[in-house]
Amino acid sequence: TRVAVIGGGTSAEHEVSLASAAGVVGALLEGGHDPVALTIDRDGDWHDAGGCLIGLPGVVHVLRTCDVVLPMVHGRGGEDGALAALCAFVGVPCVGTPLTGSAIGMDKAAAKLAAADLGIRVASGRVLTRASAAGYEGTGPAVVKPVGAGSSRGVTLVEDAAALPAALAAAFEHDDRVLVEEVVRGREIDVAVLGRPDGSRRVAPMLEILRDGVFDFDAKYGGEPPFVVPAPLDDATWARLRADAVALYDALGCRGVARVDFFVPDDGVPVFNEINTVPGFTPASQVPRMFAADGLSYVELVDLLVADAS
Ligand code: DAL
Ligand code: MG
Repeated sequence: TRVAVIGGGTSAEHEVSLASAAGVVGALLEGGHDPVALTIDRDGDWHDAGGCLIGLPGVVHVLRTCDVVLPMVHGRGGEDGALAALCAFVGVPCVGTPLTGSAIGMDKAAAKLAAADLGIRVASGRVLTRASAAGYEGTGPAVVKPVGAGSSRGVTLVEDAAALPAALAAAFEHDDRVLVEEVVRGREIDVAVLGRPDGSRRVAPMLEILRDGVFDFDAKYGGEPPFVVPAPLDDATWARLRADAVALYDALGCRGVARVDFFVPDDGVPVFNEINTVPGFTPASQVPRMFAADGLSYVELVDLLVADAS
């Protein structure tokens, strides 16, 4: 199968997306496919595998020579549904979640609304714009984060209100809307959901992130990340996490694989944190590690994604 793999992108997750795309290209080669690498640079210009700049008509042409498109662009301009929409226009099957679910998933405020509507617990909080932030007075600890960013870019754990202005400024560098949320203290558990063509869902062994404070960009990518798979969970908590993750995956019309991230406080009732419709996808990233723990290799996982493109 000739598969266009799109990496890079204009978001703050550019390098992460390059790493995910490189991993997937390797897996496709190993799996006997014919990958075609396309890279979006930080300015939004596209390059072919040889690094040559190609204009949008050239991109459309290349995509139309492929059987499937596999977008690996995290964050805005990719994971928000932009590339799913492009594929729909171009008329080439695309791996992953279509436009609407991607856009909602990328928007942490909208995703919380969707989750809450399903009866999933979410942290209380509010969305601020630059204008409304000017008059906002925080009380107590808070998590401050851009509504649409990833890899913890622009996220700050504020322990005391004096640190709020700097945290807001950092978040507004990534988005025009910022979420200020209560701090949920608890274990951090990731749930990977893979859609099967028959509509059933495969949930991988869950992953726990062991960390102090925020699992920030440096902790994510600065070295061997502190993951435990499978996370030790009692049956009730495991079942609740599974049900919540699958309910949200289904409600957003997700396809392919999505990673739904939760906090689990001492009472055992999971709090939804965020959903990633293009989760980090190097062989060492959470999702491939979780499925590997279930006996599904990285090459096999990529193969399943390609087979279920629509
Ligand atoms: N946003 C990063 C890539 C992740 O969710 O893994
Ligand atoms: Mg994310």
